[in-house]
Amino acid sequence: MFTRTRRLRGNKRLREMVKNVTINLDELIYPIFIEEGENIKEEIKSMPGQYRFSLDKLPDELKELNELGIKSLLIFGIPKIKDEKGSQAYAENGIVQQGIKVIKKYFPDFIVVTDVCMCEYTSHGHCGILCGKDVDNDKTLEYISEIALSHVKAGADIVAPSDMMDGRVLAIRNKLDANGFVNIPIMAYSIKYASSFYGPFRDAADSAPSFGDRRTYQMDFRNSKDFYREVEADIEEGADFIMVKPALAYLDVVKSISDIHLPIVAYNVSAEYSMVKAGAMNGWINEKGIVMETMYGMKRAGVDIIITYHAKDIATWVKNNEILL
Ligand code: PBG
Repeated sequence: MFTRTRRLRGNKRLREMVKNVTINLDELIYPIFIEEGENIKEEIKSMPGQYRFSLDKLPDELKELNELGIKSLLIFGIPKIKDEKGSQAYAENGIVQQGIKVIKKYFPDFIVVTDVCMCEYTSHGHCGILCGKDVDNDKTLEYISEIALSHVKAGADIVAPSDMMDGRVLAIRNKLDANGFVNIPIMAYSIKYASSFYGPFRDAADSAPSFGDRRTYQMDFRNSKDFYREVEADIEEGADFIMVKPALAYLDVVKSISDIHLPIVAYNVSAEYSMVKAGAMNGWINEKGIVMETMYGMKRAGVDIIITYHAKDIATWVKNNEILL
């Protein structure tokens, strides 16, 4: 006797019936980059198909995304002026704050998630306030919570701190609550590794550190235990979503936390996208096949929500009946 696992794969209907992992557009978050200036729709060299938009060019893109059935956006801003303290990150008329207002004016139904961090706004490119050559954790918390508050005041639906300072979820929660925003959720980049997979993003957002690296605050991928502490801390501090980033090399981590009682978000980051695009542009891989296999891989591991630059392509393939979700 042996086991006939092929029995349940015999035809398409049967395979459809027994499949137990599904994806739909409600679960995808599409990142967009907005930049100060006018008349800009500039392709990001290392991320083919992704653009930096000035605010005047944003409504056309939003219209397209809306028609494709994209529901949620993650906003990144690129300011004209950077300084030591990243003051454009929490300015009332900063690029992200203005961008949120544009989105909410034209398409109020989009769920607007904002990346709360300082690296795109500081002259040194680090994710916080420096003390000598390192980032001062507790001082940075004051700034991070101001940034989050300024996004929420502008109309953000969810704030997503990505700086990796200890205590930022609590600092943001307290700040939002004290200002009457008790119902704004925090999507914590709880498990964020120091990773080469962010390379193309740093081109896109001009956010590479001018010296050193981020290893005193982002996590070391050679440790297989410390992610539990990050998750415990963030849940205790009041996080509403737990994010794992990058995604593909870290699905073991997702699996290990998959029984927590909060939605798990995976960030399918820039290099994960760019490598697929490079392969596809060279004709070496089947792009749709690779992208969808990857999406299902994340879901199978226990991911609930996926932040992905592929979201627009996926929505387009669905619309054109090239794939079925
Ligand atoms: C920090 C931030 C980064 C990404 C998202 N938020 C860059 C970093 O930590 O260096 C990376 C996203 C990607 O690679 O797609 N603001």
